[in-house]
Amino acid sequence: MNWNMRIRQIHRWLSIVFTVAVLINIAAMTQENPALWIGLLALFPLILLLASGLYLFALPYLARRRSPGGLR
Ligand code: HEM
Repeated sequence: MNWNMRIRQIHRWLSIVFTVAVLINIAAMTQENPALWIGLLALFPLILLLASGLYLFALPYLARRRSPGGLR
């Protein structure tokens, strides 16, 4: 598996982790005194999603720059 595929796979699985964290957040909000760390639970995977997502976004443009005439 090459590096780009690996980042895409990580992004894909992080999206599941993020979704679960959001659901936990929503469940926590229904409680009387929700713990602060539960609020941060979704933030961590979201930051990693942002970084890997921006990388995935840049990939086609970087590929175009490396091979002019290819991949338009
Ligand atoms: C936070 C900022 C995010 C950015 C900048 C971002 C960006 C991207 C980009 C550029 C792609 C590749 C699109 C393509 O060319 O095929 C992608 C794929 C994807 N993103 Fe994100 N994303 C972000 C957050 C999320 C979130 C919050 C979720 C879901 C909870 C998510 C789920 C996915 C999935 C499932 C794919 C397809 C992965 C695959 O090819 O298997 N992303 N994202």
